[in-house]
Amino acid sequence: MSKLAAENVSVIYSEGEDSFTALKDVSFVIEKGTFVSILGPSGCGKSTILSLFAGLGSPSEGNVLIGGEPVSGTALDRSVVFQHYSLFPWMSARKNIELAIKQAFPDKSRRDVSSIAAEYINLVGLPDFADKFPSELSGGMQQRVSIARALAMDSAILLMDEPFGALDSKNRADLQSLLLRLWEGKGEKKTVLFVTHDIDEAILLSDRIIVMASRPGRVRDEITVPFSRPRDGKSLNGDGVYGSIRNRIVSLFYEDITRETDGKEMFI
Ligand SMILES: Nc1ncnc2c1ncn2[C@@H]1O[C@H](COP(=O)(O)OP(=O)(O)OP(=O)(O)O)[C@@H](O)[C@H]1O
Ligand SMILES: [Mg+2]
Repeated sequence: MSKLAAENVSVIYSEGEDSFTALKDVSFVIEKGTFVSILGPSGCGKSTILSLFAGLGSPSEGNVLIGGEPVSGTALDRSVVFQHYSLFPWMSARKNIELAIKQAFPDKSRRDVSSIAAEYINLVGLPDFADKFPSELSGGMQQRVSIARALAMDSAILLMDEPFGALDSKNRADLQSLLLRLWEGKGEKKTVLFVTHDIDEAILLSDRIIVMASRPGRVRDEITVPFSRPRDGKSLNGDGVYGSIRNRIVSLFYEDITRETDGKEMFI
């Protein structure tokens, strides 16, 4: 029941006489147990798509389906890592994570809840910061707590919005491999919708990449990533197929930039 589907989805934001089309006729399917990235430039509607699947918004047109049923609000089958940190500021990192575990598993004992929380705090490398409040943590650390919280809930569906965007490259690489290890290693695979604007991250992590374009936000292409797992970022980098997937995505982005600037080249 954890297949995700967008069917001809449009989102139009209106304010008085003005309206803005954030998404236009977006369709895709994310099969159960697959890892799919949504990759595109800033403003192309990636977070808007994620919020529809999280149940925090609804489409102006079309259908957003989970397991064939329209999404109607938030639910515990999905855990979300938001683009902007979303921890409760009045609770320590540990308490934030324990609260989510209690919600996901109301029957678990206090002892089990606290040992699961400790396990995930360790996994994201924050054992010495477990009892700090969010305001006492750096942005990257807060994001690591959000990631630990989402993973500890062990939901069938994981929705992640640029979860590693605020991290330095070492932490980013460590958490990418942690995410893959957890996703590949544990019994039934979660269905993952992963938002990023980083091409290499999308290729390293995904089974499939949905490439988006902006103004209006729409699907530009879908690319299947053929590499077997477990993957190793370093050895992939020198692979010819890797290079051709990368080039294909870069040229999709480039075509959009030249189109938006009336054919004049623009450096960004
Ligand atoms: N509540 C809103 N009202 C009006 N416009 C909005 C609203 N939310 C988003 N938008 C617009 O919709 C477009 C898509 O926004 P969205 O946040 O989904 O982009 P994004 O791809 O996630 O960008 P980024 O990579 O910068 O996070 C943007 O142009 C944004 O200004
Ligand atoms: Mg966004």
